[in-house]
Amino acid sequence: MDHFQYRDGVLHAEDVAVPDIAAAVGTPFYCYSTATMTRHYQVLAGSLDGTGARICYAVKANSNQAVIRTFVELGAGADVISGGELRRAMAAGAAPDTIVFAGPGKTRDELSQALAAGIYQFNVESEPELRLLSAVAAEMGKVAPVSIRVNPDVDAGTHEKITTGRKQNKFGIPIDRAMEIFDLGASLPGLAMLGVAVHIGSQITDLAPFEESFDRALKLIDELRAAGHEVSRCNLGGGLGIPYGGEAPPPPAEYGKMVKRLTANRQLDLVLEPGRVLVGNAGILVAGVIHEKHEGRRFIIIDAAMNDLIRPAMYDSWHDIVPVRAPAPGAALTEADVVGPICESGDTLAKGRHMPPLAPNDLIAVRSAGAYGAVMASTYNTRPLVPEVLVHGGQFAVIRPRQSIDDLLALDKPPPWLAATLE
Ligand code: LLP
Repeated sequence: MDHFQYRDGVLHAEDVAVPDIAAAVGTPFYCYSTATMTRHYQVLAGSLDGTGARICYAVKANSNQAVIRTFVELGAGADVISGGELRRAMAAGAAPDTIVFAGPGKTRDELSQALAAGIYQFNVESEPELRLLSAVAAEMGKVAPVSIRVNPDVDAGTHEKITTGRKQNKFGIPIDRAMEIFDLGASLPGLAMLGVAVHIGSQITDLAPFEESFDRALKLIDELRAAGHEVSRCNLGGGLGIPYGGEAPPPPAEYGKMVKRLTANRQLDLVLEPGRVLVGNAGILVAGVIHEKHEGRRFIIIDAAMNDLIRPAMYDSWHDIVPVRAPAPGAALTEADVVGPICESGDTLAKGRHMPPLAPNDLIAVRSAGAYGAVMASTYNTRPLVPEVLVHGGQFAVIRPRQSIDDLLALDKPPPWLAATLE
């Protein structure tokens, strides 16, 4: 359930009419709902009640500091993937000892930054990373808390570009080498070998692959314990899917039940790293119609493009698109492609949608754009990054202003031999 609903025929974000935001900030813009984020967090946290599981919000999904802060205030920690995200999470108020650092290519600098901060855990993905972390920690006189991320060779049944748990993927330590790597870690200086982590992909709409991967991770923990390692932590990753259109992902309650069943009586400190399920349906991308073009096919050309929301171009993903003002009863809906102004055919946000007639400046909303939307935006075609707006009840605030073209141009620095001509 989300808080983007029509009232008197006008799409609202909580108690704010979307056209009021558009009038204040222009289009396009991202709009997030605090009530939706809060609800999603509470439903997930509630499903894990009694397990003591720590929810580390995967900030890659939406890393605006106001969004991170909203989850921190609800009790979340953070899952970060770079030194930049670590800085962001801390700037947004996440306590270092609630932060996990994942990812297959952490640099020496990033490792030392995280060691200096005193994070909760490094999810180590390879033997070279384990050795590097040991060396950096030993140099700094620190002990790094480590879980090894294993690759359980489980197919998550999701889009090929976001599946991460098959053995041909670049992620994790093959599960059959995990014992050897854990032994190695225990023998190296500067490491506290504490646990096992898995994450098999994103937008997973079936519980079975989760269960299979958790089961493998837990069996590994049993084996490690039997071999004398004191394993106290298990990190179950993120990946729970959301309904964009026709999908019926497992409700968080079912997911929570499964986690409880598998982990009961195992004395483990659990960590989850959800991203999309918390923010995906808590955001929309609002765009203005530039005009329609009818040449055998109906194109609705809007002022948002693939640089603002790359998911349809990158993953062929489906996002619901709705007019901000509900069509008049009986208005004819005809098939249209909703496209942006960028000069490539991939700049198509949606194909063959049944849309009412739209006039220039009418507003449309691309739904389920709260996760992997603004964070994946670029300035391709010298299109400035669009604003992000956060709604809270009847209030809204710009949590990232629109970049200006001057900002963008100022990033380029002329080389000395062209400086005179570019002044
Ligand atoms: N933990 C790890 C180690 C991850 O790699 C990810 C996502 C998550 C947690 C959070 O997964 P979530 O709960 O959000 O599914 N850009 C793509 C999604 C990439 C996901 C990358 N890793 C998209 O737009 O679909």
